[in-house]
Amino acid sequence: MSRVLTGIQSTGIPHLGNILGAILPAIEMSKRPENESYLFIADLHSLTQIKNSETLGQNTFYTASAWLACGLDTDKTIFYKQSDVPQTTELTWYLNCFYPYNRLQLAHSFKDKSKTLNDINAGLFSYPILMAADILLYDADIVPVGKDQIQHLEITRSVANRFNSQMGQTLVLPKAQVQKDVQEIPGRDGLKMSKSKNNVISIFEGTNKLRKQIMSIKTDSKGIDQPKNPENCTIFKLYSLLSSQSERQKLKEHYLAGSIGYGEAKSLLLDKITKRFEKETKSFDHYLAHPEEVKAKLSEGAERARKTADHVLKRIRNQLGY
Ligand code: ADP
Ligand code: TRP
Repeated sequence: MSRVLTGIQSTGIPHLGNILGAILPAIEMSKRPENESYLFIADLHSLTQIKNSETLGQNTFYTASAWLACGLDTDKTIFYKQSDVPQTTELTWYLNCFYPYNRLQLAHSFKDKSKTLNDINAGLFSYPILMAADILLYDADIVPVGKDQIQHLEITRSVANRFNSQMGQTLVLPKAQVQKDVQEIPGRDGLKMSKSKNNVISIFEGTNKLRKQIMSIKTDSKGIDQPKNPENCTIFKLYSLLSSQSERQKLKEHYLAGSIGYGEAKSLLLDKITKRFEKETKSFDHYLAHPEEVKAKLSEGAERARKTADHVLKRIRNQLGY
């Protein structure tokens, strides 16, 4: 049995790129019987950038609701928010005392963020140590992450090694599992879909918005009966991600033959997305109307998480002589 743990940022209502690129693959992985899975919302990390309590709370709620609506099973996955486990910040302090200050200065994420943000606080600087605590607090074996998080996993292993070599074997060294085959989902302008690029397709924000967004996908100016190239068309790419081989082939033939216009292709895509996510949108709307259910699931998850955290933290405190 491997303990698989990962954290997710809570930055608002997840979009199609988040759902296809991160949420659904992670849920698939959590279903494997050989894994014991921990998944949490990194709302303490969010505080480095968001200083509005209402926004912080809402982002967490929307993120949790989206994961639940997409099928996260809280019987199989321990699902919680980081701020419900205060043991995390205690461990962060211990780890801070085992990691050289000048090495944190070399972290890419800090260097990048300190160039673009106005609020360059000390939390941003020690962000990787909080992340190391998130992982080491649960004796996690495997941490699925995107490429941008590899350095944070290296820091986690390094700080655990330093602790172990100075205080005796205590912490489990985790392995990063880098998601290589995750596809980059294109946004309305054909670039990677991202909140920051204002090109998203929103599944959970109502059909009117979804329709408008799909109708605004950029295409070339080919007329209805002109042959079109499916390979460089965002509508076709998105449609392909959600369709069967034969549906994809059929649309491809229409493109090549010049027997479909972009307007009609957009309608097909809208229909596809609406049907594919019908259950998920209903479920998301249900959670919006019943926030107490989301809260109850998160607090039950936190209780389970704190049990493991207490057990591991006791071992660490013991080793430190506290
Ligand atoms: P955004 O770029 O919209 O701010 P985040 O950085 O919060 O999204 O990403 C949350 C998760 O969703 C990450 O695991 C990230 O890799 C994944 N993700 C975001 N956008 C895409 C996309 N266009 N294609 C695939 N995965 C994506
Ligand atoms: N830093 C991660 C990100 O930006 C989120 C995160 C916080 C995380 N703690 C973690 C991921 C622990 C994996 C394990 O995506």
